[in-house]
Amino acid sequence: MATLSKRISDISPSMTLAISAKANELKAAGEKVISFGVGEPDFNTPAHIIDAAKDALDKGYTKYVAAAGLPALKKAIAKKFKDDNGLDYDPSQIIVSNGAKHSIFNALFATIDDGDEVLIPKPYWLTYPEVVKCCGGVPVYIYATPRHGYKVTANQIEAMITPKTKMLIFNSPCNPTGAVYTEAEIRDIAEVCVKHDILVLADEIYEKLIYGGETHFSIAACPDMAERTIVINGVSKSYAMTGWRLGYLAAPKEIAKAISSFQSHSTSNVNTMTQYASIAALEGDTKPMQDMIKAFGERRAKMLEVLDGMKPLGLDYVKPDGAFYVMLLCYNLYGKSYNGVKIHGSMDIADMLLTHAKVAVTPGICFGDDDAIRLSYALSMEDMLEGLKRIADFVAALK
Ligand SMILES: Cc1ncc(COP(=O)(O)O)c(C=O)c1O
Repeated sequence: MATLSKRISDISPSMTLAISAKANELKAAGEKVISFGVGEPDFNTPAHIIDAAKDALDKGYTKYVAAAGLPALKKAIAKKFKDDNGLDYDPSQIIVSNGAKHSIFNALFATIDDGDEVLIPKPYWLTYPEVVKCCGGVPVYIYATPRHGYKVTANQIEAMITPKTKMLIFNSPCNPTGAVYTEAEIRDIAEVCVKHDILVLADEIYEKLIYGGETHFSIAACPDMAERTIVINGVSKSYAMTGWRLGYLAAPKEIAKAISSFQSHSTSNVNTMTQYASIAALEGDTKPMQDMIKAFGERRAKMLEVLDGMKPLGLDYVKPDGAFYVMLLCYNLYGKSYNGVKIHGSMDIADMLLTHAKVAVTPGICFGDDDAIRLSYALSMEDMLEGLKRIADFVAALK
């Protein structure tokens, strides 16, 4: 007897599982596998944040707290929104959850009904379509092409709007492309959203990780947008706190209230010591974060320099301005062979790179784009350079 709900059955299994399982097998067998697949900073959480968690435990802050977050943390988050983004939120509009991923789930669960269409620029972070489907919605993709810097335009968005369109998911800086939208581009997109009365889920988790002289601008700061935007953010990427599990959202009052009730019946509060640690992250010394951003910036520059040298091999990329990823365009290699085995797409390249070069990458197909593979530069400079050399040698050996 089938017992699974339709919603859960519609969710796609992770396409990266086979690759990571194989990478782990190789590592266990003693191979030096270089991983460009990493989605988290390779830095430790700064000491003052860890100390704040220890201090919270020592003080006995080990009990339940308000389901939507500690008042002191929500106050610190409201201040962050004001100082960094020029956004005015009452703490009641802020909900603290178990990572930005959880915040995204809550936001979609609270707003998407069966059959609602959700616009998602593609390549996309792979969780978006799955959560949309989980909530009964229908993902509708808008192609962000390399030719346009992996960005969609307001016109493209408008062309995809139907009477069923409920929401646009907007992620800048973007995972996987590293694209950062300019304020002017964002203002144009916001106008379309207001005109057609659609909600925006603005995932700003990589806000602090911007390098190319660009700056972050929140779509919620555009006229009439705060009332239709759910802003997602968190401490995972900016403060090297991925394992602590703390994300947050800011939403119009009615939506925040509904999410708060839902969270009170589902997960309740994020673990209390993490919330104290996050206050220290938001209010404390920003030097460790600045150092991390500087290191990412240096690796990014080096990686792009090396990739420039690999262009004669048929590889190309679009300069990423944010996050810590580069999409390496490799469609020119399709049809070529390694040891007589033909390459058909990004999954084949990822598989062969792992087998023959001991390099782990994420195939673009996971993000809805089979023309590229995603390289993360959240690894040491030394490993990065060795890994890029291995990729170049592999590509040079293709026939
Ligand atoms: C675009 C994007 N949003 C959200 C998240 C989730 O962040 P968290 O670890 O806080 O759940 C990630 C993590 O990879 C991400 O890349």
